[in-house]
This record gives sequence, structure tokens and C-alpha cells, in this order.
Amino acid sequence: MIFGTPNTPSTIKILMLGSGELGREVVLEAMRFGVEVIAADRYEGAPAMQYAHRFHVLDMQDPAAIRALIESEKPDYIVPEIEAIATDTLRQLEGEGWNVIPTARATQLTMDREGIRRLAAEELGLPTSPYRFASSLEEFQAAVAEIGLPAVVKPVMSSSGKGQSTIKTPDGILAAWEHALAGSRGRSVRVIVEGFVAFDTEITMLTVRTKREGTLFCPPVGHRQERGDYQESWQPERLSAIALAESERQSAAITEALGGTGLFGVEFFIRGDEVIFSEVSPRPHDTGMVTMATQDMSEFELHVRAILGLPIGEIRLRSPGASAVVLATEAGTNPRFEGVAEALFDPRIKLRIFGKPDTRPYRRMATAVAYADSIAEARALASEAASRVTVVVDPA
Ligand SMILES: Nc1ncnc2c1ncn2[C@@H]1O[C@H](COP(=O)(O)OP(=O)(O)OP(=O)(O)O)[C@@H](O)[C@H]1O
Ligand SMILES: [Mg+2]
Repeated sequence: MIFGTPNTPSTIKILMLGSGELGREVVLEAMRFGVEVIAADRYEGAPAMQYAHRFHVLDMQDPAAIRALIESEKPDYIVPEIEAIATDTLRQLEGEGWNVIPTARATQLTMDREGIRRLAAEELGLPTSPYRFASSLEEFQAAVAEIGLPAVVKPVMSSSGKGQSTIKTPDGILAAWEHALAGSRGRSVRVIVEGFVAFDTEITMLTVRTKREGTLFCPPVGHRQERGDYQESWQPERLSAIALAESERQSAAITEALGGTGLFGVEFFIRGDEVIFSEVSPRPHDTGMVTMATQDMSEFELHVRAILGLPIGEIRLRSPGASAVVLATEAGTNPRFEGVAEALFDPRIKLRIFGKPDTRPYRRMATAVAYADSIAEARALASEAASRVTVVVDPA
């Protein structure tokens, strides 16, 4: 493997499939090692494109477009950042010798809630919420009747809470079905119906699979979600010794089953000492942005080191910390950020503006991260900082 500059013959080349705020940090970390980075996404001006050496705009779910991109760029590593990619094509390309991070099968299983749920619950025996799948209104009604209320409904192909809702009373069943169909990605009309888990807290276990050092764990990240999207996260979430050991055991099991190298975000519900598997991202996780404030190596640097086979040594938490999101309130273009100076009211706070070219209601546009002596103080700093920033746009 040759570390050089983008012009060095045979230097390492990474192709990012997806160019959002998480991909942007991965791009930066890769570039720090002299890697040539190509960013791709469906629209021009995406956050990671602004930092990459070059970029491509294409429909990420178009098999021919994905194949043409990979065959022309010839990357050493294909690094998916989003779920909605032509993963059948990634599997074919992997079979032809291309290197997909962590594995093409992992990207395929995790883009479909049914794939990952059946692997976790039925093959590995991990504890999950009770669940049923449905592809028609009749199946859906039967599934809800079996699971009971309250029940959480999600399209099998969706992310960031799209199409997701909780049915509390029988008169909400039809609305949940229609909401799921409207929020479903692609042509699938399949949904998962899950029993509602009354958890004490929920966490992400950032888990790193490496060739050199086996599987490494970051201290648990706690988070709070609204509308299916994360609002704040903090690290370390304090768990009982039993719950921590169980979280690591399950994280090791699911990431082992998915294989390859790189960082994964394994999501769990915690209820007392009980650890209930929810889902896993085979890539850096949004709630893990807090690691930019807390760890020696952020989740993004860990991902890149694992991909490139570089040493990690030990994952060290420097300080407790927190992150809080800045959301847009309306649809528009040319976003401007007011209150940036006011947000930086304490030197332990950092603001990361993602550089997205347009907005829609609740779109995540920036995050504030902070460290402090306690989680309570870090959360207060990050939330206050985020709340001082306002996104102003030209109406769409
Ligand atoms: N069965 C459940 N019981 C209770 N709460 C749930 C359940 N399923 C999901 N939730 C809540 O909804 C959130 C989002 O669910 P999930 O992670 O499955 O969706 P997602 O669309 O993949 O979100 P993201 O892409 O942001 O991770 C969870 O973090 C949790 O707060
Ligand atoms: Mg999730």
C-alpha cells in the first residue's frame, strides 16, 4: 500500500458513495493520510464533495451508473456512506474483486430492515423487539393484531425516521400504514411492525473491526431521538457492568456476522440490565459525531484507520462530551447561520456547519459538540450552543 499524494502513481484511492456530513469527516480523515478521495452523491455541492479531490453526481440506486463509476475510477476501497445504493451491483462488483467496506453483503442486509432483523434475531439469537413483516393492508392489520399496541411501524427500506410512526390506539392503524407507504424508499411496500420497547435509555456501540487488532469498542454513546432522528448524544453513557458486557457481546456478534473492516454503529435499547438489539449501520453513525469532542480518535478517524489497516492501539476517551443538532425549520436555499458567535460562548464548544446547499423542515444542517467534566454539563453546553444558531434561507 502506497501513501502519497493524489498525483503519486499507485497512491491509495477511496470512493465515497454518499457525500453527507458523516462522509465529509471520513473524507477529511482519509486525506490526512494522503489518500486520494472521490466523492459521489445524487446532488452537486453535497458536504463531502466540497472536500474531496473530485466528485461525481449520479443516481446512487442506478445499477449501471454505479458500475460505470467504479469501473472508471478503479478505487482501492468503495466506502458507502448511505443506505440507498444499488447494493445488488455492489455484491456483483465485490465478486469481481472490488473492495466494498465493510462488505457488500453488510450494505445489502442493513439497507433492508428485514435482512438485518432476521440475521440478528433468527440466526444469531440476539434479543430484539417482537416483530412481523407485512406487504399489504390485510397483512399489516394481522401483524398489528399479533404484536399488540403500542406498536412501531417502519418501511423496511427507509432511514432517519422516514415513514415511521407509533400506533397507540386502533384508530391509528390505517394512518400508520399510509404514512409508511409514503415514506418508503424505492418501490417496496413492505413494512416492519415492532412491539414498542419501553426502554430506560438507548445507546450506540461504535464498534471497530480491524485486521491487526481484532474488534475494538468505543465507550457507549447515549442519545435522544425525536421523529426518528437523533437530537442529542453524549458519551460515555453509564451502563451497569452486566449491560455493558452484554452490549459488547452483541456488538461483536452482529459485526462478526457482517464481516469486513471498518467502524459500525450498533444501536441498542437498554432496560435495566437488559440489552435489546435495534439495528446497525456498517459505517460511522450520526450519534457518534460526539466523538469529535470526546475521543483521541473520532469515529471517522477510526473508520479510516480500520479500512487502511493502520494501527489504532487503544480507544481513549479524553473527556465526557455531548453533541446537539441544529435543524432547519423550512424549505429553502442559500442557508445562512445566525448566532454563530453567540453559540461559541464557551471555549469547550465547537460548531460544525455541514455546508448543505438547501434546507427542508427538520433537515440537519450543523451540530454543536462540547466536552466538560460531566455529561450533564456537556449536554447543557451543546444544547445551549445549538439552540443559539438559527438557519435563515431564501424560500424555495
Ligand atoms: N420498537 C421500538 N420501541 C421503541 N422505540 C423505538 C422502536 N423502534 C424505534 N424506536 C425509536 O425510533 C428511533 C428510530 O428508529 P430506527 O433506528 O429503527 O429508525 P431509522 O429510521 O433507521 O433511524 P436512523 O436512520 O436515524 O438510525 C429509535 O432510535 C428509537 O428511539
Ligand atoms: Mg436508528
